[in-house]
This record gives sequence, C-alpha cells and structure tokens, in this order.
Amino acid sequence: MKILVIGSGGREHALVWKLRQSPRVTKIYCAPGNGGIAGEAECIAVDVKSLDSMVALANRIQPDLTVVGPELPLMLGVVDEFTRRGWRTFGPSQAAAQLETSKSFAKEFLQRHRIPTAHYAICDSPEQLPDALAHFHAPIVVKADGLAAGKGVVIAKSKDEASHAAAEMLSGRMLGEAGARVVLEEFLQGDELSFLVVSDGERVAPLVAAQDHKRVGDGDTGPNTGGMGAYTTPSIIDEKMRDWLVTHIARPVVAGMKAEGAEYKGVLYCGLMMTARGPMVLEFNCRFGDPETQPILMRLESDLVEAMEASIDGRTSDGDFKWSNDSAVCVVMASGGYPESYEAGKKISGLDVAANVNGVKVFHAGTSQHDNAFYTSGGRVLGVTARASGLQMALDRAYEACSMIGFEGAHYRKDIAARAPKK
Ligand code: AMP
Ligand code: GLY
Repeated sequence: MKILVIGSGGREHALVWKLRQSPRVTKIYCAPGNGGIAGEAECIAVDVKSLDSMVALANRIQPDLTVVGPELPLMLGVVDEFTRRGWRTFGPSQAAAQLETSKSFAKEFLQRHRIPTAHYAICDSPEQLPDALAHFHAPIVVKADGLAAGKGVVIAKSKDEASHAAAEMLSGRMLGEAGARVVLEEFLQGDELSFLVVSDGERVAPLVAAQDHKRVGDGDTGPNTGGMGAYTTPSIIDEKMRDWLVTHIARPVVAGMKAEGAEYKGVLYCGLMMTARGPMVLEFNCRFGDPETQPILMRLESDLVEAMEASIDGRTSDGDFKWSNDSAVCVVMASGGYPESYEAGKKISGLDVAANVNGVKVFHAGTSQHDNAFYTSGGRVLGVTARASGLQMALDRAYEACSMIGFEGAHYRKDIAARAPKK
C-alpha cells in the first residue's frame, strides 16, 4: 500500500515514522517533507496552499491513502476534493474543519450543544467593542476568528488593552482577513490538556492525552510559540476523566456536527483547560497536534494505518488503539530568536550520537539536508523525543540526547513535564 503524508514538520515526521511500521505499507511519500523526513519517505515538492498542486501530485503518484498533517490544506477542502475523486483520505471535510478555522463558529457550536467552554462575545466591528467588553472582567482573552498561525490570541490584562488588541485585529493591520471578526473570552485558569480523538463521523476512539508547552521560556514565560515540547504519561488523566471527556466533549461534538450536516471524520484535537469548574474547551484543531503527536505516537503499539482506515470506512472503535504504559517526552530544539525572527542555514551536529541514546527518536521539524549534513530551515528545528518506563527516565533520555546536539543559537526548554501529576 502506498501512503502520501502532506506536510513538512515534526508532526509529519512522526506520522511517517509510525505509518511506516505498518506491515501493509510498501511505499511512503511526504509532500513537501523536510531534510530528516527524506531518510524515511520519498519527499516530493507540493504547494500546500494550492488545491491544484495537491491534486496534481496525488494524480501522479496514486496513493492508496492520503494523510493530511496541517490545517491549511483541510481549510482549502483537500479532503472534499480527493474524496470526490474516489481517493481515500484521512481527515475532516472543509465544512467540518470550521471547528478550527473559525473560532466564532466553534464557540457558537459549543453553546448550541451545551459543551463546556469559557463565556464569550463575538464582535465584527470596533463599535461593538464597548458593549461587549462591559460583560467581562480583566484579564480578557482576545482571539482572531480565523487561522493566525499561533499569533491570533492576546491575553489582555485590562479592558483598555483588550479593546486596543481587538481594534487592531479588526482593522486588518495585524492579521489580515483572519482578524475581520474577533472573539472575546473569559480568562480561564488551570492546567491545559491536549485531548485528541479519532472519529468516523459517529464514533470516537481517544488517543492518550498529552500536555503542550506553548510559551518559549521555562516556567511558561515569554511569547507564545507553536509548542516547545510535550509529554504523555499513563497518569496524566485517569480512566474516569478520559471517559468524562469522551462522553461530555468528544462525542457531543461529533454528534453535533453530524446533526448539523457537517460530519466530522479524522482527528479532533480538543484543547482543554482543566478548571475548578471542570474541563472546558479552549479551542479545537482539526488535525494532529504538533508537538503532541511526537510523544503520543511513541506510545502507540497498534497499527495507525488500520485506525485511519477505520475512520474513513465508518467503523472506528475503542479497540483501534493499543497503548504502551510507558511515558514519552518531546523536547523541541528551536532556532536562536524563535518565535521572533531567526536565521536559518545553521549546521546541526551530534544527530548521530543522539540517535543512539536508548529510547530516543529525533523527529525533524525544520531541517534541510545537503552535502551529507543537516542544516536548520525553520523556527522549530527538532523534536527530541524519548520513551521509557517512567517519566523521569524519559526526560533524562530526551535531555541527554539534546545535550549531544548543537547548532548556532539553539535553545530549548529545560522544564518539559514539570507540571506532570506526581505519582
Ligand atoms: P488557542 O489558539 O485558542 O488555543 O489559544 C492559544 C493559547 O492561549 C491557549 O493554549 C491558552 O494557553 C491560551 N488561552 C486561550 N484561551 C484562553 C482562555 N479562555 N483562558 C486562558 N487562556 C487561554
Ligand atoms: N500544539 C498545539 C497545536 O498543534 O496546535
């Protein structure tokens, strides 16, 4: 069986790594992929911003299954387009992907279906801001409606700051079209949890939960990033909580989407805040998380191809995933300056020795390869991921591997999993 993975980051490297383990897979392509992925898949150029480009590629290589990594192709309707042509594709339709691509859609959907989320208001123009803001206490969370690559959320310490941020978004200066509508939200406190499920449009099968680390600095300081690391342990949530999240969040979302005529297939990523009032939805993503996918897939012991086919064929079941009781950790090594501007093209050393650390897999996020060497080509460069029977051992392994890898300006967080439940 031939598989095409669309995307180019650490998540896609982990998907390629895991999908390749299926005995059914004979050939795997990644488009466009990256320097590290090229060691495990045939990388082919594609423009993920262009449906035509993706259609032309799939037409040429005729994959038996296409797996879409990032949200942009899903927003463009790549699953609708491929499915219409009879090509088997894992992921949600354009209409279903609105759960991620429009935050106002997601908030109104959550309210219609009584799924727990923060109080909110939606504004389409600066004139609506004073009335809307009157209902909130600071801090206030201001969110651009559309996709903004992690730059669409401002946590404002005062109403003035919230008003200013919202007005900037609405003006189009800050984020273009994505900010033409804003969502104001009550600020929630608690631990964040990434809870992902696979759905066939009706049933859901949960993945093991994970926690991301969004801020660039230790102790959750500094600006937001795409994610500086993640971990998953058997005790991150207990069975009772997992069942609650399936019953009160994941299943109602999937049932609600079906009832509204936009059946949700693929991975549904529920970004949750575990508050004193219970778990609440912060956001949805219509795809696997990055970097959560790296440690999650290291704990997966069953065949990912089978689970994806079950989603496409409408036969998802609880038994689709078998998990190891190990813990897994991913530490992201980033370019100097990231998430602000950074220089690419720095030579990376030590990858060979790091790969030999027991239980470690180094996923490439932003690398290129030439002249027998790897070079940095993005903000997030590597996801150094380790698995072990206990969290501390997984951390030791991941950080030992990080200490062996070097490139000019490299930085990474030293406190991944510091908030993990102590057991
Ligand atoms: P989002 O893109 O909606 O996930 O927001 C990005 C990040 O902003 C989240 O991961 C949270 O850390 C933070 N955030 C979003 N919404 C809220 C909220 N209502 N209360 C507190 N923090 C939030
Ligand atoms: N790790 C957060 C995301 O994938 O959006």
